[in-house]
Amino acid sequence: VTVTYNFNATWVTANPDGAFPRPVIGINNQWPLPVVRANKGDTIVVHFTNLLGNQSSSLHWHGIYQNGTTHMDGAVGVSQCEVGPGRSLTYNFTVNQVGTYWYHSHINAQYPDGIRGPLIIEDPDNPYADEFDEELLLTLSDWYHDQMPNLMASFVSVTNPTGAEPVPDAALMNDTQNLQIKIQPGKTYMIRIANIAAFAGQYFWIEGHTMRIIEVDGIYTKAAEASMIYITAAQRYSVLVTMKNDTSKNYAIVGSMDEDLFDTVPPTLNPNVTSFLIYDQSKDLPTAALLDEFDPFDDFTLEAYDDEKLFENVDHSIELTLKMDNLGNGANYAFFNDISFVTPKVPILFSALSTGNAANNATVYGANSNAFVLQRGEVVEIVLNNNDPGKHPFHLHGHNFQLAWRADDEAGDYDPNNATFHSVPMRRDTVMVRPDANMVLRFRADNPGVWFFHCHIEWHLATGLAVVMVEAPLDLQKSLKVPEDFIQACRDSNTPFEGN
Ligand code: C2O
Repeated sequence: VTVTYNFNATWVTANPDGAFPRPVIGINNQWPLPVVRANKGDTIVVHFTNLLGNQSSSLHWHGIYQNGTTHMDGAVGVSQCEVGPGRSLTYNFTVNQVGTYWYHSHINAQYPDGIRGPLIIEDPDNPYADEFDEELLLTLSDWYHDQMPNLMASFVSVTNPTGAEPVPDAALMNDTQNLQIKIQPGKTYMIRIANIAAFAGQYFWIEGHTMRIIEVDGIYTKAAEASMIYITAAQRYSVLVTMKNDTSKNYAIVGSMDEDLFDTVPPTLNPNVTSFLIYDQSKDLPTAALLDEFDPFDDFTLEAYDDEKLFENVDHSIELTLKMDNLGNGANYAFFNDISFVTPKVPILFSALSTGNAANNATVYGANSNAFVLQRGEVVEIVLNNNDPGKHPFHLHGHNFQLAWRADDEAGDYDPNNATFHSVPMRRDTVMVRPDANMVLRFRADNPGVWFFHCHIEWHLATGLAVVMVEAPLDLQKSLKVPEDFIQACRDSNTPFEGN
């Protein structure tokens, strides 16, 4: 089945926290954005037209593997040229995976201005299908009153040498606050939760109700009980929640932004967004309890439902050391192995397609691309040493990865003698490394393509916290033909790429 959408990006006005109306990027003059929904095996076709007038754009399908279609991945400068104002192109890809995903533009820290929405792939064979009656979808996010180009200019500036990130003005749930969700007593719901934020992780809980985690980032887990879950920017969870038969009270659903991420917490900030499970419309809305009353669930303990074992034999180990530092101009940037990623003019995929055998040599992608070439089929390990006192949620395009190991706060750099690997690790596409600590991720290079690996805090991606995996480039040269509209996007943006 082919599911087709016509998406025109347009500016609209929104006021989701009730405090400040502002221009946001909508689709077809609407905001919040539509949910993209398909079944496993469907082909998704999105005719995308940029009617913003003043900004270029793109759409990235976060968590979609793009097997055979790496050029549909939407990352400007990595897999495609920008879609300029007034221009169009068509995304066309098949989804042989299931679960909770999202989509967002992938250019110039644009998505926090509103161009971000959920993407759901239904599973006809959900192993938990017998255990729930209804489905619900909740997005979490943070919200800024100012627009990203302004915020970015003051963030990357000599007047901000410490790199203090702009603090959100509010938290949102389903792009609003005080949402009331009418539920049916006694029924079990599968609640999909996606954090589509620019920056803030959120602690999430439902008062008086236990959650059973069954999916993370599109991968089923063995069911695990949690009273509170920490969900970083870009992560997703599905949980089963059984409603009470007693309708004497309503209950709060709370998302609470992680204030540890903020350099200074403005006294006026309310870090929480509250929604309500409504058992009885005539009853009061409760006041939420405090964050401290719960313990967050440790996602390292999750196990993959399919029992896939830890990859033991690593063929290719990549060590990445994360640092924040000032560059010559006095502004703060982020580095992996002393390189701050700079988006190249020619997308890395197109360099991979047009350089013949040299595509196997990482230097053809330029000194600031932080490119790593992977050979088809090898087991790749990323050892990430976080030499920064901040938390960072890392996302790999084109794959999920095993979270083989993650150290506690302030553990320092990776030391194999102090690491305990998980034998049936959870797999996911976004995971947080802890402050001044390390983690080890593993995946098989079974998906030829060009894939970003980056911090999903937009402030950090914009200041270079990224590397690029160039996976089996010679295979791509044989198998991939860039469609005419993607070549036209390069011509329109004066990028020297005339097709392959
Ligand atoms: Cu959610 Cu590089 O993306």
